[in-house]
Amino acid sequence: MPTYVPRLDQRFVIEASRHTHSIWGSGRSLDEHATYTLAQLDRAGPDLLRYVGLVDATGLVASAKRYSMQLAAPDGSPLPAVGIGAVFTREDARDRGHAATLVREILREATAEGLSAAWLHSEIDPAYYTRLGFLPLPGLAHRAATEDLPEGAPLGLRPATADDIPRLLAWYEAGYDHGWLRPARSPALWRYFAFRNPTPAFILEDQGHDLGYLSANPTPQALWVNEWSAPGVPRPRILATLRALAARHELRAITGWLRPDQVDPVFRTTGRAAGIPMIHLLASPWTAETIDPARTHFGAYEYF
Ligand SMILES: CC(C)(COP(=O)(O)OP(=O)(O)OC[C@H]1O[C@@H](n2cnc3c(N)ncnc32)[C@H](O)[C@@H]1OP(=O)(O)O)[C@@H](O)C(=O)NCCC(=O)NCCS
Repeated sequence: MPTYVPRLDQRFVIEASRHTHSIWGSGRSLDEHATYTLAQLDRAGPDLLRYVGLVDATGLVASAKRYSMQLAAPDGSPLPAVGIGAVFTREDARDRGHAATLVREILREATAEGLSAAWLHSEIDPAYYTRLGFLPLPGLAHRAATEDLPEGAPLGLRPATADDIPRLLAWYEAGYDHGWLRPARSPALWRYFAFRNPTPAFILEDQGHDLGYLSANPTPQALWVNEWSAPGVPRPRILATLRALAARHELRAITGWLRPDQVDPVFRTTGRAAGIPMIHLLASPWTAETIDPARTHFGAYEYF
């Protein structure tokens, strides 16, 4: 029986990166992928991210990333949570229950630490994680033709800097009212994901006033919109800003995993092929029955 290791040392993290390279290498060489993996740990720091694994005499059998995060419960209270990513079993050790054992160990440890929830984005059939007690939440994707968005009065855009992070966080929080289950963010988390999922953020401005932010990125196919928050700004002005930004890059479509309450009817909504958010409620007053899935949002920012 392999042993659960709650914090893999550097040697095992490099071994994990060699296992996962075939599917998450994104064109990096083996060495580059190892460097990138270690850089994530370095950027996050030990309080935010560690690698966990199952080890036996053959070496590392299964591994996962384990983030210490917080969710905001629908009543606004914080839910200390564990985020689980990159669950992987070495190919020759599959179908022996190792990944299930590893996830159960993470849940056991989180329960012992008094955490309220675990969450992940499933890249595989969510039924796998449902069997382990996770509840699938809506994982929606949105797409609109640039020309279908309103044209009038786009806001100005200015690249945000690291100094803006406190304001970005404040706008993020102010953009939600109570009643939502969603990630809560800290400055450390914001900085980490700005490195990990580098979609730039822009300050939205109008006549010298900073009104909020937009995180968006031109890709070859479409303008990818991570998220925005600009409390009090009418939606048509945000949509006009998206249109102007897409048009500037000659992009004919706008896509994203948008907040359900921000989605305008011009967007077509479909289920995501992957990245389905799933939550496991541990010691928490919230249950599957008291969570309204339509008032949950797990977008691309904390996609891990
Ligand atoms: C998914 C994975 C972690 C499962 O590891 P494992 O140790 O073999 O898992 P277990 O032994 O606990 O469970 C095996 C079950 O997982 C199922 N499974 C494997 N890949 C799956 C997939 N892509 N979708 C759904 N189920 C899958 C197997 O069919 C098997 O089902 P069964 O119990 O009905 O026979 C492993 O296949 C892997 O590393 N895949 C590549 C990385 C990946 O996709 N990770 C998931 C990220 S969310």
